[in-house]
Amino acid sequence: MNDANPTASASTASMWEYAPAPERTPLEIDDRYGLFINGEFRSPNSRRWFESLNPATGEVLSKVANANQQDVDDAVSAARQALPSWSRLSGQERAKYLFRIARRIQERARELSVLETMDGGKPIKESRDIDIPLAARHFFYHAGWADKLQWAFAGATPRPVGVCGQIIPWNFPLLMAAWKIAPALACGNTCVLKPAETTSLTALRLAEIFQEAGLPPGVVNIVTGAGKTGQLLAAHEDIDKLAFTGSTEVGKKIAEVAAVGDRRLTLELGGKSPHIIFADAALDQAVEGVVNGIWFNQGHVCCAGSRLLVEESIQDEMIRRLKHRLGSLRVGDPLDKNTDIGAINNPEQLDKIKGYVEAGQAEGAVLHEVTTQSLPKKGLWFRPCFLTGVQPSHVIARDEIFGPVLAMMTFRTPEEAIKRANNSPYGLAAGVWTDKGARIFEMAKRLQAGVIWCNTYNQFDAASPFGGVKESGFGREGGRHGLRAYVRI
Ligand code: NAI
Ligand code: MG
Repeated sequence: MNDANPTASASTASMWEYAPAPERTPLEIDDRYGLFINGEFRSPNSRRWFESLNPATGEVLSKVANANQQDVDDAVSAARQALPSWSRLSGQERAKYLFRIARRIQERARELSVLETMDGGKPIKESRDIDIPLAARHFFYHAGWADKLQWAFAGATPRPVGVCGQIIPWNFPLLMAAWKIAPALACGNTCVLKPAETTSLTALRLAEIFQEAGLPPGVVNIVTGAGKTGQLLAAHEDIDKLAFTGSTEVGKKIAEVAAVGDRRLTLELGGKSPHIIFADAALDQAVEGVVNGIWFNQGHVCCAGSRLLVEESIQDEMIRRLKHRLGSLRVGDPLDKNTDIGAINNPEQLDKIKGYVEAGQAEGAVLHEVTTQSLPKKGLWFRPCFLTGVQPSHVIARDEIFGPVLAMMTFRTPEEAIKRANNSPYGLAAGVWTDKGARIFEMAKRLQAGVIWCNTYNQFDAASPFGGVKESGFGREGGRHGLRAYVRI
């Protein structure tokens, strides 16, 4: 399964090949990166470092500091010390810093995109066109709020919450850092951020940008490390607010820790989002929506449209179209501008995805993948695929796979579509494709999801709140709603 097909004839495989088009922006990467505490990079107290790899090649990109208790204490106390003067600064002054940071992200966008792609494995066209511009956009957007907070909360006087501990995952490294830091700073808080252990490098470049922007020392601190460091940060008693994005499993642990004391918490967790296609939908667009919903970023997307619910009458047509579209997706070198699907972020994730596809087949589902395009010899790869003959009780229809794996099912009536869609402990996102406006509103009202896309999928903007219901978490990020988590009223 999922190996290069040795029988594919070279001539057919190469007939439609693109010439390689690698992104060649030169990039300097230091041998090692320290922790960013109180405005400067420093060696960790732990004296321990770990490697950050390029998942597309297996090569070591750099070494990153592994923060221990003392390091986390230092970071939190730097944030605490910086809090009074930062929160007393006028909104107008805070906005200037945020604008400067946003501008600097734009100016260094190419470098950040290449680094994001090398460190995490996502295609350059996504880091270049989506992640990095959106990260800048979040700083611009929140710069705009910094001096208008009293209008965001009519009749109230919003005050900062205090020191924020923020833990983020590896699927959108710089973007998640921006989602967390920009609203916190706009509202006058200070932060300690912990990036994911496989993708710390762009967050550390962001720290350089903070230095360039003259951000006062201690306003943002970055501690790198794995789950243990995250645990230390989450449990730290001098944190006023915790924000976490990642697995539901770790989210539940964090909720327990955060329940002690007077600590604010927001959680953005996993999903198993339904993507519903009615027979009257514009099918060409719907297919593109499905492709974008699940195969985008190797399916490493919390709101991925991983459960496809298709009206029964168009099932065969959808299978035909999806197979055709699968055949034109290019898997391989993430730095190549023509690549649609890059490398899987880490070996554990690759094993997990493989395990799920095997389990799905063992339960009787049929795998559809295209094996005529060869995969690179080194690195972590998984071909995009979809499975038919899936029952709602199958493990691939219930669990978050977090890979480019789509489980296809059918429905006969809108009522059945809603029942099947809501039959999940998760409630992050949903997609609906239909030509009927009234049906869109009815579906949107009854689907249990924080975000519902109609005749589109995976659209994000800093002005639009994002977040889940049920086991997908609580709290919103982005928009006016997102500010709420970072103010006391
Ligand atoms: P994870 O939830 O373990 O990691 C997310 C972040 O939490 C990382 O920075 C990690 O170092 C930190 N962390 C880990 N254990 C912690 C603890 N006990 N206390 C505090 N922080 C902790 O996610 P992981 O292991 O990388 O991926 C496992 C699964 O989680 C994936 O297969 C996927 O299903 C899901 N996931 C969901 C994401 C989302 O955006 N909803 C993002 C990443 C993973
Ligand atoms: Mg890496």
